[in-house]
Amino acid sequence: MEQLINEIKELARQKDAVILAHYYVDGSIQDIADYVGDSFYLAKVAKEVPNKTIVFCGVTFMGESACILNPDKTILIPDVSAVCPMALMVYEGEIEKVREEYDDLAVVCYINSMAATKSLVDVCVTSSNALKIVSKLPQKNIYFIPDKNLGSWIAEQLPEKNFIFGHGYCHVHDVIKPEDVEAYKAKYPGVKVLVHPECPVEVSKMADYVGSTSGIIDFATKSSDKEFIVCTESGVEHELKKRNPDKEFHFIDKHVCQNMRGITLEDVAECLRNGAPQAHVEEEVRVSAEKSLDRMLELGSN
Ligand code: 13P
Ligand code: SF4
Repeated sequence: MEQLINEIKELARQKDAVILAHYYVDGSIQDIADYVGDSFYLAKVAKEVPNKTIVFCGVTFMGESACILNPDKTILIPDVSAVCPMALMVYEGEIEKVREEYDDLAVVCYINSMAATKSLVDVCVTSSNALKIVSKLPQKNIYFIPDKNLGSWIAEQLPEKNFIFGHGYCHVHDVIKPEDVEAYKAKYPGVKVLVHPECPVEVSKMADYVGSTSGIIDFATKSSDKEFIVCTESGVEHELKKRNPDKEFHFIDKHVCQNMRGITLEDVAECLRNGAPQAHVEEEVRVSAEKSLDRMLELGSN
């Protein structure tokens, strides 16, 4: 393992590559990454780093977004089978149909979506900036795709807007039910509940804190509490424990995003050795999708 890690570091140096990793990838990969974070942070980092090559350890839409934002960089994807199923839950013609039905409409797309979808929408959002961005949009009608759970959570807080939801969801978070949270609250009385907004809205409503992976980690780190119930993918436990060795985290059933967790150190080394596989987006799609991502970076950052 040490030999493989040294090889990755040496290859990255030779190829002027930076390694980005999401909190849901295996801890061994988070440990060798130059930057680890939530999807908004990683999109910003991808745009800012000076390196010629980015190795994106996450699901493929994340690498694709890095490619959209950085047409002159090489974006390496260690495992092309690490697809986010929710990103595929937007069907052809749906956006056009809703645009025809509603005036004064903004089409808002969760970053967990394919480049082709991003090219058709007005703005992208992530779980950490969706509320901020949607609240800044002048339109009354918001078509929020694909995640109906995140969309519903944002809608709860913006009653002045009229939301139309897509029908996508994350199978890892959607299975967490209010009964599960009740059971954990009964087992750990008085313990705060931290929820990712991809969970069903009934679960988010039971939370003491709702936020992105980074948000959950920051909340637990800053809190003086010593124990938490956590409703998200269990990969975040790695960073939670690293920053809070004295605290306890009760993950509801240790849910795993198999797609992200399947990425291995060997995959990282192999893509650096071969300079492949690479993310690729057709230029026409890329240019339109870039506008939605740039708008997110602009509205989400200030
Ligand atoms: P974050 O924006 O919290 O990183 O979430 C990304 C994701 O895919 C969660 O399932
Ligand atoms: Fe997609 Fe869910 Fe995995 Fe996030 S946790 S990448 S939404 S499948």
